Amino acid sequence: MTLKKLQKKSAPAKNNIALKSAASIKKIDGQKALNFWHIFYNRKRAGKVYIVETNSDGSASTPFITVMLNKPMQGKGIGSVAFAMACTLSRLPAVYAMVRKSNIASQKSLEKAGFVPYSKNKAGQDILRWSK
Ligand SMILES: CC(C)(COP(=O)(O)OP(=O)(O)OC[C@H]1O[C@@H](n2cnc3c(N)ncnc32)[C@H](O)[C@@H]1OP(=O)(O)O)[C@@H](O)C(=O)NCCC(=O)NCCS
Repeated sequence: MTLKKLQKKSAPAKNNIALKSAASIKKIDGQKALNFWHIFYNRKRAGKVYIVETNSDGSASTPFITVMLNKPMQGKGIGSVAFAMACTLSRLPAVYAMVRKSNIASQKSLEKAGFVPYSKNKAGQDILRWSK
């Protein structure tokens, strides 16, 4: 789904979501941060989204995305819009996400953002892929 269609479809969030880049953040948990944005919903800080470069499976470096919404901001449909906006803004040709089977909200919001199943890692977590 394109970002425009997604913004139209996610009724509660609509276009009230903004990402503000924090370019000074260079590392997250020891991994190189390619991008970091604060997420705002109705002008209130809602959480963060970041893309790190990782090679956890021993292969070439791969960009992995994470969205972390503050508890009161979860369940409003913000996640999928933040995933899609961040992927588009990153200008990367492909972005990956790692998700536990039990994290239904994450799986659903990744799918809504256009991620498709790609592979599994050694821990059995699903790897999903978004591409331009
Ligand atoms: C995971 C996260 C990013 C999802 O964003 P969100 O805006 O809260 O998600 P949404 O409101 O769009 O919900 C997504 C879907 O999951 C569903 N869902 C949520 N929790 C669920 C549960 N426990 N069981 C079944 N479905 C659930 C919602 O009903 C929604 O379904 P719909 O699209 O069919 O309406 C956000 O909740 C979050 O930051 N969680 C904590 C950190 C985290 O786990 N990050 C993921 C790491 S990549």
